[in-house]
Amino acid sequence: MYENIDFDQIDLSGPAPEQEPERQYYFMAIARELVRRQSEKLGRPLTACTTTFGCQMNARDSEKLEGILEAVGYQKSDSEDADFVIYNTCTVRENANLKVYGRLGQLGKRKKNHPGMKIALCGCMMQEPHVVEKLKKSYPFVDLIFGTHNIFKFAEYLEEILSGENRIVEIWEDTDKIVENLPVDRKYSFKSGVNIMFGCNNFCSYCIVPYVRGRERSRKPEEILAEVKRLVADGVVEVMLLGQNVNSYGKNLEHPMTFAQLLREVAKVEGLKRIRFMTSHPKDLSDELIQVMAEEPKICRHLHLPLQSGSSRILKLMNRRYTKEQYLELVDRIRKAVPDISLTTDIIVGFPGETEEDFQETLDVVRRVRYDSAFTFQYSRRSGTPAAALENQIPHEEVQRHFDQLLAEVQQIAREVCRRDEHTVQEVLVEEINEHDPSLVSGRLSNNTLVHFPGDASMIGTLQKVYLEESKGFYYMGSLVTEEK
Ligand code: 5AD
Ligand code: SF4
Repeated sequence: MYENIDFDQIDLSGPAPEQEPERQYYFMAIARELVRRQSEKLGRPLTACTTTFGCQMNARDSEKLEGILEAVGYQKSDSEDADFVIYNTCTVRENANLKVYGRLGQLGKRKKNHPGMKIALCGCMMQEPHVVEKLKKSYPFVDLIFGTHNIFKFAEYLEEILSGENRIVEIWEDTDKIVENLPVDRKYSFKSGVNIMFGCNNFCSYCIVPYVRGRERSRKPEEILAEVKRLVADGVVEVMLLGQNVNSYGKNLEHPMTFAQLLREVAKVEGLKRIRFMTSHPKDLSDELIQVMAEEPKICRHLHLPLQSGSSRILKLMNRRYTKEQYLELVDRIRKAVPDISLTTDIIVGFPGETEEDFQETLDVVRRVRYDSAFTFQYSRRSGTPAAALENQIPHEEVQRHFDQLLAEVQQIAREVCRRDEHTVQEVLVEEINEHDPSLVSGRLSNNTLVHFPGDASMIGTLQKVYLEESKGFYYMGSLVTEEK
């Protein structure tokens, strides 16, 4: 296990080991030495800044990048005026890409005034050949480019750019490899993401993820459970099990296992208080999973269930493999089994060919399900996906009009729904001191709603009983319930 690695004991006289993760430990040990020498020369510690775009998977990947940066001796910095800057990119929508190019331009200017600065790019955007071509041509100051499949080789690349002047560009098309036991620098001491699977086999027609994250691969349950136990021993009380489609977990394992079975095993870990997971595809959500959610108190009362569209016609074009009726029926089954569950969703507006009637169907589902919150997106044409080739791309003004209408509806409903626990006592996992008022702490209910109440830093990472005094729309103001003497 990485925590037990003593980098000074690694034999650097021979060639690098072929085995992983030992190979990466070897390169970390060399990089440590390079960082130490450079830092001595400058008379100050070297700093590293990681910027993350995109989803929870990317956030977790960034913790792994930061773990390695920390292991080789960099000090974490929030400023991009650092000695090492890395962008972990997202490409799910065009906006995410544009943001990266914009920020990269600024970074290039900074690099001119910062001798020795190294710039690296990784993540989903790098899996697109046209992006890498553009970067090579127009952003020559980038030192390192790698993709999602070879992220486990970060230490090796880092060592190479620190010891030479050459730029490295290495993208893999796919992988079946999962490398365990690399360092991780967690953002929170008391909660953590845990990858349970990588990639996606669904091929929704609008989505680029299967092309940039590759085919579905599940981690072995032993590895997942060992990681959860390690995290709990280290103070973690809440885990978020991560995968593009957690409901198809375990299908490709040597000894197949369902996601519901995995949840039961994770729930047995002593000391773990809360389990969340993300993301569920409605077509794969089993009755077995609903039953585990109903029975297992550690599983949070929250389900993110992406709808994408309420029109069965559009759902078919999206290759979602469920109809409006099937989705609504699923919601009914879930609500029956877990009445206090909070449902959230993702919705895309302006898919090619979407008519006024299709959009009304989406609004209809929103009004019937009454989500606690919904992420609403304007359709973004991703080259290489089947939907990008469809005719009838919708004019921007129309998409905007529908988007505004949907957002208003979603927010109005959310404001009403989120009050459901007003004037009750609920458990809150305290996450941080309130950003605006240091006399308050902020935390989350099992159903993920935010709560602010008077408290102090000693409560961070603990579960507290809180009386929810007032709903403010999307969050509550509360007060601590002190135990009776
Ligand atoms: N355009 C707009 N939104 C998209 N999403 C995925 N691909 C696209 C796209 N091409 C949204 C989906 C998904 C969420 C992560 O991003 O709603 O659930
Ligand atoms: Fe996450 Fe998908 Fe964006 Fe990659 S493209 S960061 S998997 S949302």
